[in-house]
Amino acid sequence: MSDERTDGISRVGVVGLGTMGAGIVEVFARAGLSVVAVDGTPELAERGRGFLEKSTGKQVQRGRLTQADQQALVARVTFAHELTALADVDLVVEAVPERMEIKHDIFGTLDGIVRDDAILASNTSSLSLTEIAAATARPERVVGMHFFNPAPVLKLVEVITTIRTDETVVSRVRDLAERLGKKPVVVRDRAGFVANALLIAYLARAIRTYETGHVTREDLDAAATAGIGLPMGPLTLSDLIGLDVVKEVCDVLYAATHDPASAPPALLQQMVAAGRLGRKTGRGFYDYADDAAETPASQGEVVTADTPEALAESLAADGVRVELHAETPKGRLAEIVRGATASDADVATARASLAAAGLVPVVSRDRAGRVRDALLLPHVNEAVKMLDSGYASADDIDTAMTAGCGYPEGLLQMLDRWGAQRVLDGLREMAAETGEPGLHPSPLLVEHAATGRPFRG
Ligand code: CAA
Repeated sequence: MSDERTDGISRVGVVGLGTMGAGIVEVFARAGLSVVAVDGTPELAERGRGFLEKSTGKQVQRGRLTQADQQALVARVTFAHELTALADVDLVVEAVPERMEIKHDIFGTLDGIVRDDAILASNTSSLSLTEIAAATARPERVVGMHFFNPAPVLKLVEVITTIRTDETVVSRVRDLAERLGKKPVVVRDRAGFVANALLIAYLARAIRTYETGHVTREDLDAAATAGIGLPMGPLTLSDLIGLDVVKEVCDVLYAATHDPASAPPALLQQMVAAGRLGRKTGRGFYDYADDAAETPASQGEVVTADTPEALAESLAADGVRVELHAETPKGRLAEIVRGATASDADVATARASLAAAGLVPVVSRDRAGRVRDALLLPHVNEAVKMLDSGYASADDIDTAMTAGCGYPEGLLQMLDRWGAQRVLDGLREMAAETGEPGLHPSPLLVEHAATGRPFRG
């Protein structure tokens, strides 16, 4: 029953014990709440227990948790395979597959089981919460509680409200998220909410870039890690999220906005149809059984120089130039731009020499934005468009990407550091080359470039 906490929540339920559900169970149990964890069959419930034991076991191995604490944590969780086990919880978080008919079935059934004062939350990342709530007789007690993968690590919880959600329900869920050590961001029900609307459009763009064959899989990922400082490159991250999930969110975003930038790329659709869903099936953009790299091993001659700048200059050859980027926590990116007249030997020399000098070389065709800016600038532009639409504040947009996706700094903070004019110039260069409507700069970006005003105070 309720305790003295401001959120009044002490006993929670989680329905669906896949990757996200199991992670959410762990988050609750770690915070000392008692948890009823439910999946559809005894086998699935046992699998959920296995996930929890494995994940907490790893923390014991790493010395982050004592064995006694692990046992106490696991003992706070009761596993069940019937929704009736949730009759006495204060809050349920549903984390079943993203199909409206399954969600409706569960919310409709829960409505007849849980107490009148219980809160019904969904971890949906792509479906309309308003539509999910319609399956219950208590839409005012339905709220979104969207965690990020891996849930025990990432701090963001998007708290989603519908036009019918009760204010006290929202504030209790926000308080609970804080008690779990998370960073809640409260937003209205809209396709993709904050983080996925920005992240998934960026992933789709990265997949389209990969589809062109202008850059290898490893180089594309390295451009994002070393060039932006992100914890993972977009193809590795897509494999972690699951390509089926990435495609579902693309479909929902595209249906809501008709923005071609969010349409699922053909390659993504084919991979999903072929069952290559990423890590969970052992193969996505990467093959987790056989990790032979696409990027050729550095076999070129190694040239040295006193500074990276001098090295970049000395590696310039017919059709080859090197662009150095600023150091990030993930290294220093050196983009080797390969023009139509470049020789394989010159490119190999540039790659081997830059790697030997401790830089992160990435080879790409000579296209506007090369790889790093082609990934980053449209992403920043989308963040500005979201701000301009009045959906989320600059702080919330930045929190979503740092706390939800491990970005070293928020997109708007990054934009302030770079200057709006530089981002605007880069976008215009890309738009002029490709004619892509998605690259059209946000009017708010144009205003900030003209006035020099920062986005973050
Ligand atoms: N469960 C529990 N803990 C985990 C974990 C998991 N699945 N994975 C990693 N960790 C812990 C590790 O134990 C480690 O903890 P300590 O530092 O205490 O030892 C810590 O996290 C760091 O892990 P690693 O050193 O193994 O690896 P890393 O530093 O490369 O971090 C990562 C891994 C946390 C996944 C990091 O790469 C990252 O943040 N990537 C970005 C992930 C991202 O963007 N997620 C959002 C996807 S979008 C989404 O989820 C929403 C949706 O609806 C689609």
